[in-house]
Amino acid sequence: MTPPTAVVDIHALSVAFAGRPVLTDLELQVRRGDIYALLGGNGAGKSTTLSVLLGFLKPTSGTVRVAGVDPAQAPDAARAQLAYLPENVALYEHLSAFENADYLLSLAGRRAGAGAIRDALRAAGLQEAAWTQRLAGFSKGMRQKVAIAIASMREVPLLLLDEPTSGLDPGASADFHTLLESVRARGTTVLMVTHDLFGAVEVADRVGVLDHGRIVHEAARAQFDLPALHAHFSGRARAA
Ligand SMILES: Nc1ncnc2c1ncn2[C@@H]1O[C@H](COP(=O)(O)OP(=O)(O)OP(=O)(O)O)[C@@H](O)[C@H]1O
Ligand SMILES: [Mg+2]
Repeated sequence: MTPPTAVVDIHALSVAFAGRPVLTDLELQVRRGDIYALLGGNGAGKSTTLSVLLGFLKPTSGTVRVAGVDPAQAPDAARAQLAYLPENVALYEHLSAFENADYLLSLAGRRAGAGAIRDALRAAGLQEAAWTQRLAGFSKGMRQKVAIAIASMREVPLLLLDEPTSGLDPGASADFHTLLESVRARGTTVLMVTHDLFGAVEVADRVGVLDHGRIVHEAARAQFDLPALHAHFSGRARAA
């Protein structure tokens, strides 16, 4: 069977909390091998969209597929297709980077050899001196490198990122974007939600702006128009 072209395929998705609409007829497709940046202000519905993809939240209406799997019907099968990095990545503070990878991969049902773990930590750009150090002293950027190393070893088709660069300094953000490009080069599709417009246009193949639960503007890399994106992102396009 040919895998679906859209690794994330959301059609006419509506979600309401206690009758209050949060996502309304949302259309969102992320093509295989793309980095898609979903921009939007606070409360736009970005994390809600990720929760639906993860199968934590059921749609009020609409269809959702993750690599062809419906997360509302088969949440475990959908989660097996993806790696999810929340804004604050949950890792074990008292374990080293290496031990976190070894342990968390075993929980995910994967046994990785020491050499493969070292290769993944190296590819994620974590300096070698940190591999055997406890995470307790790690910066946010270092934690993300560990999390990406673990995610990459699961070899899943989709990586979901919620605000991956918030709290990173410009150098760490740039390193993170380079890392995402190498993740994409290995064939992984990436959907990241972010407030970082400049970071998004730097790294993404496609950008969508979510506002009050709808995509109000979408553009492919060749058509990125920073002033237009900014206007939509700040809500000024509606007023204009
Ligand atoms: N479990 C919930 N119950 C009720 N309302 C919720 C719930 N989760 C989210 N909401 C509401 O849904 C709206 C969208 O929230 P969501 O967390 O998806 O926004 P977001 O785009 O991720 O925002 P932020 O940039 O602040 O992270 C908000 O108004 C929020 O208050
Ligand atoms: Mg959020």
